[in-house]
Amino acid sequence: MPVTSRTDSFDVLVIGSGIAGLTYALDVADHARIAVLSKRVLSETATRYAQGGVAAVLDPLHDSMEAHVQDTLTAGAGLCRQDAVEMVVRSGPAAIDRLLERGVPFARDASGELELTREGGHSTRRVAHHADLTGEAIELALAERVRSHPNITVLENHLAVDLITRGRTARGTGKAAPGSKNDRVLGVYVLDVNARVVRPVTARVVCLATGGSGKTYIYTTNPDIATGDGVAMAWRRGARIANMEFVQFHPTCLYHPKAKNFLISEALRGEGGILRNRRGVPFMADQHPLKDLAPRDIVSRAIDAELKQSGEECVYLDMTHLPPDFLAERIPTIHATCLGFGVDMRTQPIPVVPAAHYQCGGVQVNLDGETSIRGLLAIGECSCTGLHGANRLASNSLLEAAVYAERAASKTIKLLQELPTDGALDVPEWDTGSAGDPDEAVVVTQSWDEIRRLMWNYVGIVRNTRRLLRAKRRLELINQEVREDYWRFYLTPDLVELRNITTVALLIVEAALSRQESRGLHYSSDYPETDDEHWRHDTVTWRALS
Ligand code: FAD
Ligand code: SIN
Repeated sequence: MPVTSRTDSFDVLVIGSGIAGLTYALDVADHARIAVLSKRVLSETATRYAQGGVAAVLDPLHDSMEAHVQDTLTAGAGLCRQDAVEMVVRSGPAAIDRLLERGVPFARDASGELELTREGGHSTRRVAHHADLTGEAIELALAERVRSHPNITVLENHLAVDLITRGRTARGTGKAAPGSKNDRVLGVYVLDVNARVVRPVTARVVCLATGGSGKTYIYTTNPDIATGDGVAMAWRRGARIANMEFVQFHPTCLYHPKAKNFLISEALRGEGGILRNRRGVPFMADQHPLKDLAPRDIVSRAIDAELKQSGEECVYLDMTHLPPDFLAERIPTIHATCLGFGVDMRTQPIPVVPAAHYQCGGVQVNLDGETSIRGLLAIGECSCTGLHGANRLASNSLLEAAVYAERAASKTIKLLQELPTDGALDVPEWDTGSAGDPDEAVVVTQSWDEIRRLMWNYVGIVRNTRRLLRAKRRLELINQEVREDYWRFYLTPDLVELRNITTVALLIVEAALSRQESRGLHYSSDYPETDDEHWRHDTVTWRALS
């Protein structure tokens, strides 16, 4: 695989084309030349698969900003940043208006008002949706605008490999310490997947919008793109990473041998669905005052306990008491998909299991999406804004991504006035060294599989120190092997992603080991209590650069 000497240059580069990246690109594009990088086709994102909707205070008669703030804080189990929560909640209605203006067809009721559904942890109905295909409606509307904007260059099948920062070589060695004046982002090394070349793409501002890391686990609701690339790239260049132990498991993924990653939206429970065990017992009834609509950590743990106790492989979501026509009309895609797998939710309960769903931690940012590296921003699921704390409230993530994209765009326009334009001069070529063609693709597949399985078995919904240490030992070994292979072979997307999930898995395990209490999504049977005295703070880590 050759390296080309061609260097593309933009004012701004955004890595990712979900709701965060596309919103940011549209908000920046009237002021600067921007490139949107997507490692697959533009719309292959987690955003596209979102079902439930976007939470915001849209019915002032029955809802209030205070109630949305309080529900978010309650779910977050003492770790939310109050200023981030207030800011996001108060920006919610305007963010929905912006999405409407950009052509997102949110559902309306008979009187023309936005139709609102309910999800776990919300004290009232406040989730705007488009049937059960909300994410697809958002993604397609934004993508259409992005593709037709003259200032936006779309680079599909372009995989960001590593950030380029001042004073450091392509391999990441060099002198600029994080926070020093030399520590500034200059662009990204990009693998053009079709041409099989790596080249630098320079920009004065780089925004990470790379989504989550669900693929770290063998069972996940996430699409294949979710390999934590943004977090891993930022960590390699010394950025601060926070709260990686808080992995959210969605309680209800379809349990069927042929169904890959199919989510059964929480909106089904919002509309009255009841979780039952094989004997038909509604086991959430005595777990929490909100029963089946308790926050996700509580529901997922209850299912986990139920499965461990009974030895069964799944529990059941019962919708059979609801009117059949309503089900077919309100949740048409989920209904049709279940039917395709031989499950008719109108007459039989849906078999479900929990699956890794959302990364609450990420690259730590301030209220404008700025990371600890100058010129590097992070928005959407790859960032840690403080909104979610130890557990994300359902449907708060699309909202967070839209709100922070807008704020990061405003910040970017200011940064462009401040940052000098000399960056491209300093950029070293990609260094292939003595790399050759990979001879053992099976090594990559084997390591991928091993990581995802051990994360599920040892770093899942209920953890303990012994299993976490076992996971750490194995991951460190794989990490060493991946590092050896990395500079021996020409890069492939699989190898780049393997390196990233190894890094992210280690970050999750180390954060989980360090938090010696149980809080929100992190539950350790060795430390079952919440310890506010010692642990009411984020776990923040960064790589000390040599
Ligand atoms: P994504 O939409 O995941 O986009 C990531 C982008 O980054 C992609 O374009 C990808 O190609 C690109 N990328 C990644 N790495 C690289 C790289 N190295 N180089 C180049 N490009 C790269 N949240 C809600 O609020 N409400 C819901 O109803 C809801 N339902 C959900 C249902 C499902 C099945 C899933 C999986 C998630 C759901 N979520 C929901 C969560 C929500 O969808 C995500 O948090 C959100 O869409 C993330 O948006 P994003 O823009 O940050 O990233
Ligand atoms: C769902 O529809 O259940 C997913 C909502 C979310 O993850 O916010």
